[in-house]
Order: sequence, then structure tokens, then C-alpha cells
Amino acid sequence: MHQRRCNPQLWRLSAVKPGFGIGSLSLVAGPGSVILKFATRSERLLGLVATLPGLRKFLVYRKDAIAELRHPAMRDYVYKEFFTSNATSKETSAGRFRELDQIARSIVKEGKLGAIHDIGVSSGVTSLELYRTLLTTEIPLRFDISDKYAVYACTGRRPVRIIDADGCVSELYICGLLGKRDVSNKFPLTRLLHWLLANRPVSDPLRSFLVFDPEVLEHIQKGLIRRIEYDVFTTRMPDAFSFVRCMNLLNLSYFPAESLKTALGNVSESLQEGGVLQLGRTHPDGSNHTSFYRKRAKRLEILQEVGGGTELRHLIDSF
Ligand SMILES: C[S@@+](CC[C@H](N)C(=O)[O-])C[C@H]1O[C@@H](n2cnc3c(N)ncnc32)[C@H](O)[C@@H]1O
Repeated sequence: MHQRRCNPQLWRLSAVKPGFGIGSLSLVAGPGSVILKFATRSERLLGLVATLPGLRKFLVYRKDAIAELRHPAMRDYVYKEFFTSNATSKETSAGRFRELDQIARSIVKEGKLGAIHDIGVSSGVTSLELYRTLLTTEIPLRFDISDKYAVYACTGRRPVRIIDADGCVSELYICGLLGKRDVSNKFPLTRLLHWLLANRPVSDPLRSFLVFDPEVLEHIQKGLIRRIEYDVFTTRMPDAFSFVRCMNLLNLSYFPAESLKTALGNVSESLQEGGVLQLGRTHPDGSNHTSFYRKRAKRLEILQEVGGGTELRHLIDSF
């Protein structure tokens, strides 16, 4: 599993250091090659640049402004470009699980499975859709969502630093420039800015914020949906849920088999006897490859498959 050296203490650091000038940086390495990226909180500018294939890789939307995005298509675009510090994508979009949600609805209704947990939800738009679909069953629901990288914090003004759940400065912004380590080596100045400024002591207060869709935040504030702290690799919640969904997180392309087995063990343990797990992945063409498993005598038994089922079937069978 990809792990970075980060500083969990960053959430608590308070030492003061003087400011830092970046001097006169040349932005151009050769004819036509820009060697750094820019950051904006203007949805209009992002929308314009997103339509220009040659330019879009030079501009990112600021993480601390995600809640201000008004257009769903722009949110999808921003989440698609958003990678967490364990190198998982936050790509999601409304409507991607319509057919699966109907299957989930029948299963939940038939088994009266009201304790729901949606894992690794990104913006939560697909959770909201599942929630609304399950409401029509009229079964009393406790609907929990989680994402290890749901809470970020920002600190400072020049630069503004964005700190993730691992205590990493995932990126920083200074005078419209982006500082980030995990970018292609075509952007050496973006890396350099990160290297120079990311680990300077934090003197300003940390302002934490949730990276969720505004409607999801509203549901959380109203107590209709609950956000829980959950890391699929480390959190154990025995017998807590009767229906668990985990989509587009436990992918063979993201994690090694041993880690995936640990995660599957945690997820399975969190299911009550008779509870159901929905596990799967969306392919680039939009098709879903998903399995529904029922927990019986501590084992997961296949209940239904869509699109050939989950790519983790061999791991589950080897339990
Ligand atoms: C591709 S998104 C999936 C979003 C949504 N489930 C969907 O399919 O549309 C994967 C999400 O998993 C989250 N994630 C990454 N590592 C995680 C972990 N260890 N535990 C829980 N969530 C994690 C990421 O932050 C990201 O939002």
C-alpha cells in the first residue's frame, strides 16, 4: 500500500516562523512548456479551462473551496482529479449505481436490513441516492457513511496549506500557484514549492472542513445521515451493520492482496449474521461489476452478481 511520510502532529503544531519569499521563478523551461500548476477557487475559470484539453492539466481547483462548487458537473470533474494520500481516487458521480440501488432496495426490504454503512463515499452523492432509494422501503434506517479522507484542514494565508487525515500537507497555494509533491515530474516547480513550504512550522489555527456534497452535509446536519470515522484497513466494528456497501475502494489496482484481505476481514466482521455486503467496481465505460454476499456462519456466501461480479471473488473464496 502506498504510504507517505507525514506528520500527524501537524494537526497540533503551533510554532511560529517568519514568512518566506519565493523570489523570481521562471515559469517556462523551454518553448511552450509551463513547469508549474496553478490553483483557483473560481468555478468559472475552472469551467473554461476544463474545456481546453491542452490547458486543463495546469489548473486545479482549491480543496478548501470544494463546498462552494455549484454545478454537479464541475463537482464530478473536481472529484475525478482528486487523489488521496494513499493514492485512491475520489472519483464519483450521481447516477452511477441506479440499477444496483434497486437490487440493494429489494435485499434490504426482504431482509429488513436497516443498519446501513456506506464505506469510502467520496462526496457522498451516491450515498444520498442509496439513502433516498432505501427510504421507499419504509424500513426504519440508521444510515452511516464514512471516508478516511473526508476531513481536511487548512492553515495559513501565504501559503494556505491543506492537511489530510494522515497529517500530510497534501498541497499548498501561494499567490495562485500550486505546491504539491505528487504531480508528474513535468512540474518540478510545483514539487519545489511543496518541498520548500509544506513542512514549515504551523503558526496559524487549523480550520477543518468536510469534503462532502452540500446536500450530504445538510443530511448530516439534520441527523438523517451519520458520518462515522472508519478506515477500512484498521477499524473494527463487530456486528454493527446489516447492509454494508463498499464500491470503488477495494480495487486490485489500488492495494495489494494482503491488504485487501485485511479490509475484507474488517468489513465482514462488521456485518451481523444474515447481513449483506455489496462490493464492486465501476469500469471506465460506466459498467458496474458487483457482488452481493450474505454473511452466514461467519462466511460470505454469494447472493447475486452484476456484470460478472467483484474482482475480489478469489480473495473472498479463500477465507
Ligand atoms: C473512488 S472513491 C469511491 C466513491 C464512491 N464509493 C463511488 O463508488 O462512487 C474511493 C474513496 O475511498 C476513500 N478511501 C481511501 N482509503 C480509504 C480507507 N482506508 N478507508 C476508507 N475510505 C478510504 C477515498 O477517500 C475515496 O473517497
